[in-house]
Amino acid sequence: MSKKAFGIDIGGSGIKGAPVDLATGELLAERVRIATPQPSTPDAVADAVAELIASFDIDDDMPVGVTFPAVIQAGVAQTAANVDKAWIGTDVDALLTERTGHDVFVVNDADAAGIAEMTFGAGQDTSGVVLVITLGTGVGSATFVEGTLVPNTELGHLLLHGDSAEKYMASSIREKEELDWETWAGRLQEYFSHVEFLFSPTRIIVGGGVSKKHQKFLPLLELRTEIVPAELRNEAGIVGAAALARREQKSLLKAAKKSDGKSDEKSAKKAADKAEKKAAKKEKVKREAAK
Ligand code: BGC
Repeated sequence: MSKKAFGIDIGGSGIKGAPVDLATGELLAERVRIATPQPSTPDAVADAVAELIASFDIDDDMPVGVTFPAVIQAGVAQTAANVDKAWIGTDVDALLTERTGHDVFVVNDADAAGIAEMTFGAGQDTSGVVLVITLGTGVGSATFVEGTLVPNTELGHLLLHGDSAEKYMASSIREKEELDWETWAGRLQEYFSHVEFLFSPTRIIVGGGVSKKHQKFLPLLELRTEIVPAELRNEAGIVGAAALARREQKSLLKAAKKSDGKSDEKSAKKAADKAEKKAAKKEKVKREAAK
């Protein structure tokens, strides 16, 4: 199996995608961006994702990883902080698999960025608890313990001044309230001190578009934890989603192979369960589409 997968990053304003070389973490072609439909309903976004994939000439069996800015459990969106509320309860994985014809694996956007940083960027040489915090429209988090992701940690929603912290210190808030760098850094200081106290991480990696201007705010923070900018910047979501898609597809294939040989009863059952779940998901989407 070649070390390639397709990554798509669904954001509030744009949907970006490209094929990724997973040996190096580099994009194999220039990424394509299309505007996120407004309103960003599941149906409209699914069409946009299908259109984006169709603009590339990729093999049918290439796995596709997709980021989504919400809690994702077994492919289903459980929250919708900064996206259309119609997403809550949507089986994003099944919807996009059906609409694109590819095996789609959906992951929280910050978790995807975190996977990319741990594999190819600022988290490569770490141990212990590592936090990747993305500062954008909202604030996302990816938590790793000895390199293993603890998914959906949602640290942007820790309470600060009585509300979700992201409403106080997201990058979008800096822009909206026209805060100067120092004032914004003061808010980040409150947030990161709290996070540091709760988790005692070994390293904090700061991502999101604003991380390319890290010189303006990271040096102003005083923490006992090493805090560094993300290295992959804009491409972290695409790369992380692609890496996850390949990993997931590989483990499904491996489990299926084992089940063929009936060498391991437990894996056979696992593979059968997964296949059954995926088929049920597809069925469900078809039924919904036929309504
Ligand atoms: C969402 C997270 C997401 C983050 C960054 C938050 O509002 O709850 O799921 O990772 O924004 O997009």
